[in-house]
Amino acid sequence: MRVMAAGLLALALAGAAWAGSRAPVLDAPRGEKCVEDAATMRRSHMDFLRHQRDETVHRGIRGARHSLAGCVECHANAKDGAVLGSPSHFCQGCHAYAAVKLDCFECHASRTRAAQAGRQARSP
Ligand code: HEC
Ligand code: HEC
Ligand code: HEC
Repeated sequence: MRVMAAGLLALALAGAAWAGSRAPVLDAPRGEKCVEDAATMRRSHMDFLRHQRDETVHRGIRGARHSLAGCVECHANAKDGAVLGSPSHFCQGCHAYAAVKLDCFECHASRTRAAQAGRQARSP
């Protein structure tokens, strides 16, 4: 009996240590699909954003699928409508974990249009 309890405790501790080193659990996205498949997004979202910015700012092409506001609409937290704010908020959570600076939201809105208008992003 004692031996079994000790074994269980060891297992529980190992589980906790492992969980601590894992990537954070991020807010669930809205919708069924991203603008590209998830693996491509993980690898290349910075390139899409950069490209989209150049298209918009330098070439005046608008309304394309990689807009930053679009990312926010789908990836914001269900309650506060934001992609920043805690280790589980989508953009901040992964960036804090990966230790990659994210300074786009000094200028760009980090919350959905609904949240900026004082409405809840979507029902919790
Ligand atoms: C100093 C302010 C500032 C910062 C910081 C900034 N931007 Fe922008 N960005 C702008 C302005 C101004 C526009 C043009 C807005 C417009 O015409 O819609 C723009 C346009 C864009 C667009 C095209 C429009 C859209 O909504 O998709 C993208 C994409 C974009 N920026 C991405 C980024 C990313 C990614 C970062 C961070 C690496 C960033 N920006 C940081 C000011 C900024
Ligand atoms: C129409 C809603 C929608 C838009 C717009 C959208 N996404 Fe997504 N995103 C999703 C969904 C849903 C998933 C999960 C898809 C999957 O697992 O196949 C996802 C997955 C991701 C992932 C992988 C997450 C992970 O945990 O591995 C990243 C990174 C990502 N999106 C970034 C972005 C960025 C950056 C933008 C803007 C350029 C964006 N998304 C625009 C809905 C969206
Ligand atoms: C699943 C993890 C993950 C998520 C979620 C994520 N990012 Fe990233 N992002 C990264 C990593 C890792 C890098 C650095 C990749 C590299 O340099 O190769 C990065 C890089 C970037 C860069 C380029 C930064 C630079 O200084 O060059 C931008 C811009 C960016 N992400 C924007 C976003 C936005 C906006 C969101 C939310 C819509 C987001 N990311 C969500 C992991 C993530």
